[in-house]
Amino acid sequence: MSTDLCQDAQELDLLITRMKDLLVEYMEESRQPQGRLVDYKEPHELEQIMDFSLPDLGVGPEGIFPTITQTLKHSVNTFSPRFMDKLYAGSSPIGVLSELLLAGLNGNSHVYHVSPVFTMMEIHVTRALARLYGFRGDRAGGLSCPGGSASNQLAMVTARNSLYPEIKKLGYFPRPSIQQQRDMEERGYSFAGTTLSTYGKLIAFTSSAGHYSLEKSAVMMGLGTENIVSVPCDSYGAMIPSELERLIQENIALGHTPFFVNATAGTTVLGAFDPIRPCGEIAQKYNCWLHVDGSWGGATIFVPELAKTLLDGSELAQSITVNPHKMLQTSLQCSLLLVPDSSIFPRANALNANYLFHGQSHDLGDGTLGCGRRSDAIKLFLGWKYYGRLGYKARIEKSLSNVKRFGELLAQDNFRNNRIQMLRLGSDHEDFLHRREIEEEGKRDKTQPSLLQICFWYRPRNSRLIDWRGTERIWRDSEELSGQEPPSRIPSTAATPLIGSPNSQNYLSRLASNGTTTAATTSATSSNVSSNSSTTSLESWESASTASSVVASATLASIDRGTILVDPQERQHAKEWMEKVTKLVHARIRSRGVFMIDYAPLGPYLPVFFRVVLNPPTIREIDLTMLVDEILECGDIIESQLETPACCRVV
Ligand SMILES: Cc1ncc(COP(=O)(O)O)c(C=O)c1O
Repeated sequence: MSTDLCQDAQELDLLITRMKDLLVEYMEESRQPQGRLVDYKEPHELEQIMDFSLPDLGVGPEGIFPTITQTLKHSVNTFSPRFMDKLYAGSSPIGVLSELLLAGLNGNSHVYHVSPVFTMMEIHVTRALARLYGFRGDRAGGLSCPGGSASNQLAMVTARNSLYPEIKKLGYFPRPSIQQQRDMEERGYSFAGTTLSTYGKLIAFTSSAGHYSLEKSAVMMGLGTENIVSVPCDSYGAMIPSELERLIQENIALGHTPFFVNATAGTTVLGAFDPIRPCGEIAQKYNCWLHVDGSWGGATIFVPELAKTLLDGSELAQSITVNPHKMLQTSLQCSLLLVPDSSIFPRANALNANYLFHGQSHDLGDGTLGCGRRSDAIKLFLGWKYYGRLGYKARIEKSLSNVKRFGELLAQDNFRNNRIQMLRLGSDHEDFLHRREIEEEGKRDKTQPSLLQICFWYRPRNSRLIDWRGTERIWRDSEELSGQEPPSRIPSTAATPLIGSPNSQNYLSRLASNGTTTAATTSATSSNVSSNSSTTSLESWESASTASSVVASATLASIDRGTILVDPQERQHAKEWMEKVTKLVHARIRSRGVFMIDYAPLGPYLPVFFRVVLNPPTIREIDLTMLVDEILECGDIIESQLETPACCRVV
């Protein structure tokens, strides 16, 4: 370490050269077929292995590298194509370089004169991206924010400040609801002559599968999480527009003020896309701001064939969040909030702190909720220059082809006793047929997976195939009929009942009229689900098995045969057992350190399932085949340790 503080150029040279070698070697290691991507340690173990104490006397270049080497060793190597755990993946090489440039220049893009080039890059890249979504005006553009949650928050604040500008200055004082007014009038208060706010309680709408950051925004804005209305989804996980309209009307009738509709483009668990156009038309009709949370799926705009259907109507949005740090592999964080007219940001949010902002129209900071800001947008700018729009398209297409291939491999698993059971999207026969029609018309393809995630359960060999979606429906409907609370509530993906779902009686009758039920089902129908008979065989549903794609046929594996658990105790047992299986297999996979995949819940009735995200285009055939083997091998080990409860055993 130089004692002459001005010798820092040589010091940087020394540090970067060593770091470059370590990093390249680390990336190469991640490509070895048997290489581990994590040497996973619990917190107490890490405390033992690493020295987290901070010294009085610095260790300098020689002393710092052991810490860096250990950091690499015990961290998760996200460069590995086998890191399939989250929606983000390892940074692309140009992503790493962009980060280095950002760190090197240490620019702050709050005001133009301290970061002129970064500011221009941000303006140009947000404009170019906004154009792709159909924002054609001269002032189309956006801002980078520190993550998708922050972008969603900025969207909601900007919406509120634009629609009700007085709140910015006076605070949030909604007029009483109609019920509150009545109550107060009954107690002798009179509203005559009082000036009431122009708005009632502000209400935002997002689907039951929307990201929890919308609720967080409501917390930060003082709106309250209860005023984020959860709109039911169809059985593919997409918002139902007619339900959106119904709920908006209900809230208006109560004297509240709907102001914000969020349509999610690519939900976190299933990768579903809310239909933007109908949601946008409804938002417009009720004077609501339409926001599209495309944190995950927004990047599909680079694949026009996909975007044409998945993002249809994006030009109706007043704001769109996109996270290039997810599907485009820029390094974390790179999130953009795009708008048709970027002058909305200073108009809605500026406070004109004149010590900092001196009237330069290119100062971006005043439109945000912060002050100093990283120039994260440059990571997309450089990435786009490097790969080109077509390069990004090709990268996403590669990931999509990996998903298709993985579907084929899972379908092949049928020959190995069908131990991997896909999560079905359509939750009954009708939905499945509907999906087929949609595919045949060449419209929106709703086969599972919707995007780059694949969801499934590992099913132990001695267990019977349970139709979880069918069981979910019976369970939910019976809870509804008896007015019970669902067994557990899950934030952010809270399962609002699927609207349009038949009640259990109709559902079972329809099964019966399809000739697919056993005597057990018929008796369940007549006794309104509380019958002693516990299962329903759906064997003959396989007539629907002329699926057009192999992925669909993997899905069909679970449609062909399956047992619906009717008995309440049995389904609770079965759910708990399946969750145990998933969590144990997951823990085993993680401790082996060759793959990282995650599991997720979907509403209160389904057992948690594996969610594998095939995001990085660096995933190879060998990674996919190894993953199937890994799951089956870890499943084997777990199977021998875990007793299958009677209700789940093969009979
Ligand atoms: C749909 C959706 N929106 C928002 C976010 C939040 O993004 P971030 O983690 O960048 O805050 C996520 C994260 O996964 C997401 O899936």
